[in-house]
Amino acid sequence: MAEYDLVVRGGEVATGFGTARCDIGIRRGRIVALAERLTDAAAALDAGGLLVLPGGVDSHCHIEEPARGGTAGEPAVTVSEESFLTASTSAFAGGTTSVVCFVPQWKGEGILPRLADYERRAARGMLDYSFHQIITDPTEAVLEREVPEIVARGIRSLKVFLTYEPLHLSDEDYIKVLVTARRNGCLVTVHCENYAAIKWRTGALLAAGLTAPKYHAWSRPPVVEREATHRAIALAELVDQPIQVFHVSCAEAAEEIARAQARGLKVWGETCPQYLTLTAGDMDRPGFAGAAFMCSPSPRSPEEQGRVWEMIRRGTLDVVSSDHCGFSMGGDRGKAVNGRDAGFDAIPNGIPGLAARLPILFSEGVSKGRITLDDFVRLTATNPARLMGLAPRKGMIAVGADADLVLWDPRKKVTITNALMQHAIDYTPYEGLEVTGWPVATVRRGEVVMRDGVVQAEPGTGRFLPRGPYAMVQPRGVLENGFDAAPPRG
Ligand code: URP
Ligand code: ZN
Ligand code: ZN
Repeated sequence: MAEYDLVVRGGEVATGFGTARCDIGIRRGRIVALAERLTDAAAALDAGGLLVLPGGVDSHCHIEEPARGGTAGEPAVTVSEESFLTASTSAFAGGTTSVVCFVPQWKGEGILPRLADYERRAARGMLDYSFHQIITDPTEAVLEREVPEIVARGIRSLKVFLTYEPLHLSDEDYIKVLVTARRNGCLVTVHCENYAAIKWRTGALLAAGLTAPKYHAWSRPPVVEREATHRAIALAELVDQPIQVFHVSCAEAAEEIARAQARGLKVWGETCPQYLTLTAGDMDRPGFAGAAFMCSPSPRSPEEQGRVWEMIRRGTLDVVSSDHCGFSMGGDRGKAVNGRDAGFDAIPNGIPGLAARLPILFSEGVSKGRITLDDFVRLTATNPARLMGLAPRKGMIAVGADADLVLWDPRKKVTITNALMQHAIDYTPYEGLEVTGWPVATVRRGEVVMRDGVVQAEPGTGRFLPRGPYAMVQPRGVLENGFDAAPPRG
């Protein structure tokens, strides 16, 4: 019997702390050797001329998430169109091998019924997965009995929304969740926008007949995000509970995070490719096309994008997730159908981006010289894995880690099309974007699941990833020997 089930040969292996030209020996789904010439292998994958990156870890994805408005007893149920099967194909096509997605809680219910349903859905896919538990109704039963139970099962993060009807929590309820998280050793992830402010501005815009998609951005300017970010952090400080601020879109909010970090608080910030490539101007496209770019917070201005890049370079924002949230433009529940008559507030929020995340960040970041390859590895794999308690099993190329790898051609030029995204959604907001750098093969736990864009994996082979407590993310640009590896600014 061969020593290795698979050897990945001759690639430039990106560790997040520099690269090394070596082979990767894989046995039973794990990396067992990193060395110059590994020979005794049942199969080999040639990585000559390519980078070998850790499989992407996308810690913010909405997949097959059943949503229900209002109160218990309300019958309408919508499931975001992406199933775990189609999301797996899309993720592998884009070089991502693990996701953390969201178990909903419907108001008036506990969390366990939805968890059981969601576990069944997730088990049908091919991606490895874990869950954030959304809390919309923090009753005593949920906080005292159900949260300890899900934590014991390896779900180590609670997600709260400070806006959205009917999901948003009052400050009082948010504090209750923080206290529960602290008792149970969970991270809290927070959608930071001010509910009352958005409600007020949306009402005024609609009353004035300003209903087009572009007014979504008018309904939630940066101050709305900054205020909620400040409050989320202040209350977390009060309770002494670590939080991650999701989808930071602007410098004002990132500066709140930077101040908290400078004071030693355990506050982390995530951003997404949409805040680096799309603008509020995209929502002003002719007809109803602007709805395709509508997500919350809204994409901002080109100047704001520059500021978000700077916050990534400084390390304030240390995770780049997709916030993949799949609603087609057409179809019964599509963005166009929902919003055209009723106005921008009826358009389903969110945009798809699971497959586009790595190519866009590589191209706009590494290829254009805004970030280093090490930064890229940490932002897309190592940091999310550490923060989500998935490391060292996920997010790094190291002996003992799962053999989740992406063979990456850093020079390949591709124009993004919806077909290349291989998702269930009828559009990509990145259509026509030219990128330099593209995944040519994806390996999940030692199995080649994508080669040259062709995804081949058995449905039902994705594994649930029970998580440990969060670990601090690795600081950007600082090598373990203490030298600052950041490129010179300017
Ligand atoms: O618009 C967005 N971001 N939709 C997904 C749900 C959320 O807020 O993360
Ligand atoms: Zn959100
Ligand atoms: Zn989201």
